[in-house]
Amino acid sequence: MQIAIVADAAAVAEYAAERIAGVIRARAESAAPAVLGVATGSSPLGTYAVLAARVRAGQLDVTGVSAFALDEYVGLDPAHPESYRSVIRRTVTEPLGLDPERVHVPDGAAADLEAACARYERLIREAGGVDLQLLGVGANGHIGFNEPTSSFASRTRVKTLAPQTRADNARFFDAPDSVPVHCVTQGLGTILEARQLLLVAQGEGKAEAVAQMIEGPLASVCPASALQLHPDAVVVIDQAAASQLRFSDYYEYVQDQLPEGSA
Ligand code: GLP
Repeated sequence: MQIAIVADAAAVAEYAAERIAGVIRARAESAAPAVLGVATGSSPLGTYAVLAARVRAGQLDVTGVSAFALDEYVGLDPAHPESYRSVIRRTVTEPLGLDPERVHVPDGAAADLEAACARYERLIREAGGVDLQLLGVGANGHIGFNEPTSSFASRTRVKTLAPQTRADNARFFDAPDSVPVHCVTQGLGTILEARQLLLVAQGEGKAEAVAQMIEGPLASVCPASALQLHPDAVVVIDQAAASQLRFSDYYEYVQDQLPEGSA
C-alpha cells in the first residue's frame, strides 16, 4: 500500500486528480479509453472539481472514458436528488462532461435486485474491468456500502446499512428516517479486481478508520482493510485523517524516497 500524507483537503484533491488524469492519459494512448470506478460521498468531491477544471481548461480529454459507481440505495426513486444515480450525474458526469451512456450506477429500483446485481457485475467485466477505483471510507471503515463483517470475497449484492451509516448520511435527507435501510453495493471482491485502488480521506472524523485500514489487522470488521490485499492501492490523506497512525513518520520517509519512475 502506498500512503501519501499531504497538508490538507485541497492537496488530497490535487494528488488524487493527478493520479486519475494519469490513468486517463495512459489509456487514451493505448486506444482503449479508461474505465473509472467512481464513489459518492463528500470525500471525492474536491477530486472531481479538480478534474472538471482540467477538462474545462482543455488539459484533459475524457472522450470515451466510462465510469462505474460503487453503490446505490434500494427503494429510492432514481430521480430523487440523493439517489446515487442523481449524485453521480451532478458531481461526476456533468462537470467532467462524460458521455451519460458510459456512466453506470447499480439499479436499486429493479424489481429483481439479484438479477440487477448480476447484470452489473457482467457490465463491468464486459467493459474490460475497472482501471482505477476511487474510494472514500466511512467512519466505521466501510468502502462502497460494504459494512463491517462484509466478506472479502463478496460481489455486488443487497446489503443492510449500518445504523451509523444511516445517521452519517441523514444530513442529505429531510429526516433521519428518510435514509433508506437497504442498498446495492459492489462487493469487496468486486472492488479488489480493479487494477488500481485510490482511497481519499480527509479530517479527524476518519482518523480511526484510516488507522484501522492501514495498520489494523486484515479483518472484515474494517472492510477497508481489504486494501491491504491489493497489489496497487494508494491512500491519500490529509494531516487530520493521518492523526491516529502510529508510523506516519515512516510513510512520509518512504514518500520522500520513492524510487525513480514511481509516482
Ligand atoms: C457513503 C458511501 C461511500 C463513502 C462513504 C463516506 O455512505 N456509500 O462510498 O465513501 O459513505 O462518505 P463521506 O465521503 O461523505 O464521508
